[in-house]
Amino acid sequence: MAAFAKSDVRQSLEAIRAQALAELAESSGLDQIESVRVRVLGRSGELTELIRSMRELPEHERPAVGQLANQVKREIEARIESLQHELRLRKLNESLAQTPLDVTLPGVRFFHGHTHPLTQVTERLLDIWAAMGFEVVATPDIEDDFHNFGALNFAPDHPARDMQDTFFLDGGLLLRTHTSNGQIRVMEQRRPPLAVVCPGACYRRDELSVRYSPMFSQIEGFAVDDFGKITMAHLKGALTEFLRAFFGPESEVRFRASFFPFTEPSAEADVRCIFCAGAGCRVCKQSGWIEILGSGMIHPNVLRAVGYDPERYAGFAFGMGVERLALIKLGVDDMRLFFENDLRFLGQF
Ligand code: DAH
Repeated sequence: MAAFAKSDVRQSLEAIRAQALAELAESSGLDQIESVRVRVLGRSGELTELIRSMRELPEHERPAVGQLANQVKREIEARIESLQHELRLRKLNESLAQTPLDVTLPGVRFFHGHTHPLTQVTERLLDIWAAMGFEVVATPDIEDDFHNFGALNFAPDHPARDMQDTFFLDGGLLLRTHTSNGQIRVMEQRRPPLAVVCPGACYRRDELSVRYSPMFSQIEGFAVDDFGKITMAHLKGALTEFLRAFFGPESEVRFRASFFPFTEPSAEADVRCIFCAGAGCRVCKQSGWIEILGSGMIHPNVLRAVGYDPERYAGFAFGMGVERLALIKLGVDDMRLFFENDLRFLGQF
């Protein structure tokens, strides 16, 4: 190609600019804009070619012409961008005007799986005891009479031993009626000092109802040490600490004398009703208090049954129902909801 003059290039640049800008009118559609872009700015577009050919200009002329070329290029690019932007905006506005957005439509919910509320409550309860130094030990829920009743100082004619209350299995076995068998199982195998909690399933011959279930969960706990080192004061301290960790640091706790065959003395622990703050409501049956758990100092006969000398060792024990704690804590009023596995219920926790 013959060396061309600076003025030719300038003219060509001005011509490209004038034509491109004329074609990029307000009314251009996206297709038209794109075709101008390809024709002018594409890999072998008019402007691209022209800029490429500027290599042939004498060196001292290049800067001035180069500057003009860049300016033309930027101008066309800016024009294309602003036209495209306006077009998109116009399209969006048109589509919004045509199909108005109904912000009251329900959104799409993503489904997240999670543990069952009873599992969540069990884990929370065990965490609290673990933080106080209690070890978690699993014990069997198929038991014999000795570990579920006899060693726990149940009299031979105790009503809990009746067919009406307990599921008996073949071979003298039964489904444990409480996790207190855990005390016997652990103490039989180990020596004090011990601080242990035993969670697990329990079974009683109850119909599934608002308040009862034939299968439910408990957490049993106990601590044993040298006689004199462990007293009712430790029991009260540990249980008060536990109840405040679970129900909140301001919770008011009270102990009431009670009776269990496996403890002496025995006490039940109540918390100030968390629904009415003590004023009296349906949940606390107008008493202002909610009964939470049973406890006491381990009966000497229980210690003897596992081969501990009651003159040498002493301990406290407690047992609580997980469903009951979950009902209170989660504000649920029907035990059956925990077992029906309706996702509309479970999904709330
Ligand atoms: N085993 C009792 C029950 O099923 C709960 C219980 C009460 C456990 C007092 C204990 C205790 O260890 O000391 O209702």
